[in-house]
Amino acid sequence: MTLEQSFRQQGHVPAAGLKHALPAPGARPPAFIRTARLTLRPISEADAVAIYRGFAGRAKATRLMNFPRHLNPSITQAWAESCEGRWQKGTAFAYMIVLDATSQNLGSIELALNKGEAALGYILSEPFWGHGFATEAARALVTWAMMQPDLSRISATCHPDNIASIRVIEKAGLQFETRMEDAIAWPQLDRRAGPSLVFSRKIVQQQPQLRRQRGA
Ligand SMILES: CC(C)(COP(=O)(O)OP(=O)(O)OC[C@H]1O[C@@H](n2cnc3c(N)ncnc32)[C@H](O)[C@@H]1OP(=O)(O)O)[C@@H](O)C(=O)NCCC(=O)NCCS
Repeated sequence: MTLEQSFRQQGHVPAAGLKHALPAPGARPPAFIRTARLTLRPISEADAVAIYRGFAGRAKATRLMNFPRHLNPSITQAWAESCEGRWQKGTAFAYMIVLDATSQNLGSIELALNKGEAALGYILSEPFWGHGFATEAARALVTWAMMQPDLSRISATCHPDNIASIRVIEKAGLQFETRMEDAIAWPQLDRRAGPSLVFSRKIVQQQPQLRRQRGA
């Protein structure tokens, strides 16, 4: 079964023509997403120490992130708590990326939703870089976003030097949109405002007839 079919089967995508009959408008991805090798599940407070040790407190993993490296586990604890709150509000969905074969936590990936647009961000623990895991997780969330009638665009932003992340974004199906010179702060590079690349993809819903033709 493809991810697309699985999202439909789980009822996270409105059936054709039913958009306006949905009880609560607003896109909300499934709490658990399975891919070939991974499970994405919501981050909770209980993950704080693993997140701090694995990547949020690590200089190399956070070097090209736009948040300050966590200097102690209590910062991670507060962030993990905030993830739970944002899940409840429906504004952002932060997942732990878990490797099914070993149950190891590889990193995190988040889809933030605002005014009908989705933004993707991710970070992995260094020992797990280079195995296609970020791409696999990103593709899952892009696939879900592309099926949402309430969303019009998905984007991801990264530092121009972050070649690995650029590849992940491109392999997940987003295209280069623009370069900004001073829109983003890069705390680990001591830049209050520095360059960034924006990648995006428009979300255009297929006509119900086309979906039926494809057997969805
Ligand atoms: C960016 C990051 C998430 C990538 O995760 P990953 O699981 O290693 O990514 P993937 O294996 O799915 O793909 C990485 C791609 O980048 C390429 N790559 C990795 N390092 C590279 C480098 N230094 N130069 C050029 N390409 C590089 C890989 O070859 C691969 O591309 P390919 O499939 O075309 O060969 C991971 O490196 C990370 O967590 N970095 C720190 C946090 C971060 O930068 N997050 C993104 C913020 S925008």
